[in-house]
Amino acid sequence: MTGFHLKNNRWYSDGVPLSKVAEKVGTPCYVYSLPAFEARWKEIDQAYKSIPHLVAYSIKTNDNLSVIKTLAKLGSGADVVSGGELFKARKAGVPANKIIFAGVAKTDDEIAYALKEGIRFFNVESIPEIVAINGVAGKLRKIAPIAIRFNPNVDALTHHYISTGKKENKFGVFLGDLDKVMETVRRCQSVHWTGVHAHIGSQMTQTASVGKSARVVEQIVMKLRREGFPIHTVNLGGGYGIDYQGEKPPKPSQYASLVLPVIKRLNATLLLEPGRYISGNSGALLTKVVYVKQSGKKTFYIVDAGMGDLIRPALYEAYHRIAPVEGSQKPAQTVDVVGPICESTDFFAKNRKLPLVNRGDLLVVLSAGAYGSVMGSTYNSRPLAPEVVTRGNRFAIARQRQTREDLVRLEKFVL
Ligand code: LLP
Repeated sequence: MTGFHLKNNRWYSDGVPLSKVAEKVGTPCYVYSLPAFEARWKEIDQAYKSIPHLVAYSIKTNDNLSVIKTLAKLGSGADVVSGGELFKARKAGVPANKIIFAGVAKTDDEIAYALKEGIRFFNVESIPEIVAINGVAGKLRKIAPIAIRFNPNVDALTHHYISTGKKENKFGVFLGDLDKVMETVRRCQSVHWTGVHAHIGSQMTQTASVGKSARVVEQIVMKLRREGFPIHTVNLGGGYGIDYQGEKPPKPSQYASLVLPVIKRLNATLLLEPGRYISGNSGALLTKVVYVKQSGKKTFYIVDAGMGDLIRPALYEAYHRIAPVEGSQKPAQTVDVVGPICESTDFFAKNRKLPLVNRGDLLVVLSAGAYGSVMGSTYNSRPLAPEVVTRGNRFAIARQRQTREDLVRLEKFVL
């Protein structure tokens, strides 16, 4: 069986008992099932097999090099949003012509780096950015391939912190500025405009918004073609939701049934930037109970992982399933699961029914493969957790635990 599952009251990643990982690597520790990443990437790829397309994994969700390399071997591209992500994608073997570069604040230095690497295109987010890319490309005597990200003003119906396609969001170009964009691109000799991009939000759990966004994009592409722009690529972003707590998110094939007719009508190449769908349920955070603390009527399971390891509950009040690595059959009680960090938002669960545990027991925080380790910090001078990958009965450390020495490596006493 691939991915995370319970067998005889023990949690596994693939064929590896999580208790074995904890014993060898310690806690806190991220564990990723490489076959689970592969299966989910393939599911999306399959859904669009009837048209020319590229699934460019959004590496902001999980940029572990072994993970990226695993997907690159399947033919994945990469959606990157910084020079650092571009560097990691290239290092993990993603061909430059499968890399697309989004983000509202690309610097001249990042633009130059991406042009030298020869990426597929920039997802441009504003008119000043078109001008900047044109300037850098001109100096390098290159023509920069661009797609323009439009803000389709479609509500992704998700948490307001992760909604990106409404007109009040900072992302993409305002639809009313289409004429200005055309004017700007016509003046810019060193950019070549071939794509239209829209990404409306993350953790979507219904298909309607994607359908709406695709139809807005279709209108834009048709207008641009009439105006003489050779638009042949449509990038519909990412955002496919996953099951954190019993949501029933659509399958990629359900999104595809809305998107395929549009792309076929346009006779375009489709790009997709899924992140969470591939990584979210392919990873988990392993942690150990340091203390069981009784405080009046409340019971706290105080664990050795904190918001520095997984900030989603603190930042979005996100729900993650939690289970004892062994011993799920014990009687349950209502508890808060909290971390070691000096913040009241440092929690993984509040008023959650969980089996009784003892000091030293292991817990697994599930669905932590996306926006987990990547959003980690060393707040409270806590070294970053290691990352372990599994395949079959094997596991290996893909990123070492940071050491205390690492925490001070870039510092010196000055002045
Ligand atoms: N493309 C663009 C332009 C994006 O901004 C994002 C995510 C993606 C693709 C990938 O979206 P996905 O398929 O993973 O939904 N930290 C938040 C989520 C932030 C989303 C940022 N953009 C969380 O933990 O829920």
